[in-house]
Amino acid sequence: MYEPSPVGRSAPADAVIHVEGLTKTYVTAAGPFPALKGVDLSISHGEYVAIMGPSGSGKSTFMNLLGCLDTPTAGDYYLVGRNVAHMANDELATLRNRTIGFVFQGFNLLPRMSLQDNVALPLVYSHLDRETRRRRAREMLAKVGLDSYADSFPARISGGQQQRVAIARALINSPSLILADEPTGNLDSHTSEEIMALFGQLNDEGITVVLVTHEHDIADHAKRQVRFLDGLIVSDALTPVRAEAAGSTTATAPVTAGQGAPAC
Ligand SMILES: Nc1ncnc2c1ncn2[C@@H]1O[C@H](COP(=O)(O)OP(=O)(O)OP(=O)(O)O)[C@@H](O)[C@H]1O
Ligand SMILES: [Mg+2]
Repeated sequence: MYEPSPVGRSAPADAVIHVEGLTKTYVTAAGPFPALKGVDLSISHGEYVAIMGPSGSGKSTFMNLLGCLDTPTAGDYYLVGRNVAHMANDELATLRNRTIGFVFQGFNLLPRMSLQDNVALPLVYSHLDRETRRRRAREMLAKVGLDSYADSFPARISGGQQQRVAIARALINSPSLILADEPTGNLDSHTSEEIMALFGQLNDEGITVVLVTHEHDIADHAKRQVRFLDGLIVSDALTPVRAEAAGSTTATAPVTAGQGAPAC
């Protein structure tokens, strides 16, 4: 049974994400399947982290827990210092909407809605009137270079442009954290570089970025690389070029298998 830590324990003050012993066991017809086996990790405000690892190693399971799209079987998750297990559903929904923008591999745009309305979608539960929501959406489309496409539809634009729209949608609530699960997985290498430049720009503006990728070239855009294997973190290091620039080859706190949390 899921037993979060008692109320009163807290995460490091500067951590946007802090997980301890995070465990996810799926119930399958063949019996319980441990997809995450006790992950410890802290990510501070303003970091840019790539999550890597082979297929089936637990990356998406981990991202879905970070995005509060699923609940852990055991362990603790502190989102901007709040233990999500201790929050009421509506309180958590509000915190998640204000804090996290999610970007998916398949863009997940609604085909019958204009790009502007797709981007405005997360504002539908806000108290903003329709015209204000549309104006904000156009501002976000301008931020990703697509303001002239506001009235177009997903099927009429390229994959890279669709992912830009999805990023604009993720940004509309001014999140402090972007979670992206293989955001370039459906894109060619040139378009992938354009999308990564956009994530880099957002990180330069202070947004924490955590993205999953299989590609080393993509991961090298991040400042820190965390590698999963069989439901555990097996390495956690600064991206090599950045480590060289910093005069080091390892992250602030090198880890051993299953002990993913840097010292905070
Ligand atoms: N809903 C589920 N029910 C049962 N098992 C699941 C479920 N989701 C994922 N798994 C299993 O958990 C393991 C981890 O899956 P996950 O999707 O997190 O891997 P991943 O690292 O994201 O892989 P990929 O690189 O292929 O996307 C896999 O063995 C997968 O089959
Ligand atoms: Mg995955």
